[in-house]
Amino acid sequence: MIVALNNKSNLDKEEFDQYKKKLLKLSTTNQLILCPTLLNISGSNLDNISLGAQNVSCYSSGAHTGEVSASQLKSFNVEYCIVGHSERRQEQHETNKDIALKTKNLLDNDIVPILCIGETLEERQNNKVEKVLQEEIKEVISTLTSPEKEKLIVAYEPIWSIGTGIIPSNQEIEEVFKLIKTILPNNKILYGGSANEKNISVLKECKVIDGYLLGGLSLKPDLLSVFLEQL
Ligand code: PGA
Repeated sequence: MIVALNNKSNLDKEEFDQYKKKLLKLSTTNQLILCPTLLNISGSNLDNISLGAQNVSCYSSGAHTGEVSASQLKSFNVEYCIVGHSERRQEQHETNKDIALKTKNLLDNDIVPILCIGETLEERQNNKVEKVLQEEIKEVISTLTSPEKEKLIVAYEPIWSIGTGIIPSNQEIEEVFKLIKTILPNNKILYGGSANEKNISVLKECKVIDGYLLGGLSLKPDLLSVFLEQL
């Protein structure tokens, strides 16, 4: 299983140093991908954990103040990068077009994009899940070659589940994964949204899940260890 740790905008330098020591003690056969805040990327090459970023610029380089390019991430040995997280779609108004550019830049620099998709509660209640997810995937892959498409990791994160403690039923997850597989049949698909050491016993019954994208739990190495033991 793949387990990606999305630290979001948490952990200052000192807290991160303590956190890293705890992560190094984790013993697991699962593939861990640590996605720290950008300031903590340097010095995050840990033996047992792959390195990921939480965001990348739409541009390849040049005069774009405050942006960090895919080639810069690559020079810090970043192997994975989250794109299209709902927090960025909502707070930074990122569009599917922006996310397509970011995805292409990552692939051009040999970084695996972790493409987040997911619907709001309102969209689910109005039977728009299929439409929303199809749009989120199709616009991003429209500029990619077949081999590039196959490199993507998809993370299904229902927005109503992120940070709320509410998770979809396994049947709901299976329906969505089936839909994603009709477009990207060979790609790994992660589940994200309030996954934790308690509900993993239910989630793991859902055999289609290839791994998890963890937000809150990523910050609690002791509980993360309990989670990993159950996979
Ligand atoms: P959560 O966040 O696990 O805290 O719900 C997941 C995510 O936003 O990636």
